[in-house]
Amino acid sequence: MNQTKKRVLVSGGAGYIGSHVTVELIEAGYDVVVADNLSNCDMTCFEGVKKITGRDDIPFEKMDCCDAPLVEALFSKYRIDAVIHFAAFKAVGESVAEPIKYYKNNLISFLNILDAAKNHGGCNVLFSSSATVYGETDKLPVTEESPRQPAMCSYGATKQICEDILVDVVRATSAYGDEIKAGASELGPVKGIALRYFNPIGAHPSALIGELPRGVPNNLVPYITQTAIGKRECLSIFGNDYPTPDGTCLRDYIDVVDLAKAHVAAVARMLDGKMKKGYEIFNVGTGKPVSVLELVTKFEKVNNLKLNYKFAPRRAGDITAIWADTSLANKELGWKAERSLEDTLKSAWQWECHLAGK
Ligand code: WQD
Repeated sequence: MNQTKKRVLVSGGAGYIGSHVTVELIEAGYDVVVADNLSNCDMTCFEGVKKITGRDDIPFEKMDCCDAPLVEALFSKYRIDAVIHFAAFKAVGESVAEPIKYYKNNLISFLNILDAAKNHGGCNVLFSSSATVYGETDKLPVTEESPRQPAMCSYGATKQICEDILVDVVRATSAYGDEIKAGASELGPVKGIALRYFNPIGAHPSALIGELPRGVPNNLVPYITQTAIGKRECLSIFGNDYPTPDGTCLRDYIDVVDLAKAHVAAVARMLDGKMKKGYEIFNVGTGKPVSVLELVTKFEKVNNLKLNYKFAPRRAGDITAIWADTSLANKELGWKAERSLEDTLKSAWQWECHLAGK
């Protein structure tokens, strides 16, 4: 029995989702190397990961994945069995204003990771994708076969482009392609899984790691918790005139710990040779649509507080509704979202209180 622990590189691993995934990987028995340039986070969550896991020896490489020689050196320094690529900018609004910044950072970092993986004997690549690729659709819930729509912003475009890059690299290097490619690269195969997240929310039950947006939060839940703690004056609910039951947008809010566990299941699928094709896609959501107003009301109820909010005009770029058909991930990954929205919203509030030293 091969006792060598498998090692997973988590790029962007000091961030919100990356830190939760690192905890779950370590608790599942993997070795982890975290690489992060700290452009969008500080070391708070990485320190929290060490406390939660009791591991003080998790290798941390402060580096920019856009720096090809550094990425190459990383793969030379560590034997990497799988890489989970989170390192990317992800603010929708900012990506409309600064497309070049987004295309450069999100594409070059991923290309460097793939290049190094390929040149080091092949690898298993798990790409952090997003439900944004589906765009606006009235055919809900969306499955992995649902068509991708033209992206509404460069953030969403980079997710689509990176998925396509991964398909091409798998096909060029892998014996796992749709058909065995004559003359496929003699280098090891690159296999790939794209996980399309819906709306990640919440925090680890320890309240030692969670979402730590720099500046004014773009996303709903951190804006809610910062309003509740008094850092923000009032939550604006962007639009209550949508064609939905209560007029506010519908989303599929997935607990970040459930999301992290989906990554562990996907890594295991790749490392245990369970993949059916060289490239696979899975929706990672709950399958349950929740409106903005429902979420606000539930947050107030479970945390026994009153939130200051008002209805405001619609936000440009928002889609009316999206939620996942999760049957493929349930079946093939043996994974299902388990945490209740109530517990998730409690964890988000406990994290905000932890940050405030309460
Ligand atoms: C959710 C709903 C807003 C803030 C984006 C990306 C997705 C993923 C998550 C990055 C919408 C409403 C929000 C506020 C509000 N990527 N809202 N007041 O836009 O669904 O998804 O972030 O992590 O890929 O596309 O998430 O949380 O910004 O908005 O009313 O102050 O909450 O209008 O209906 P979104 P969100």
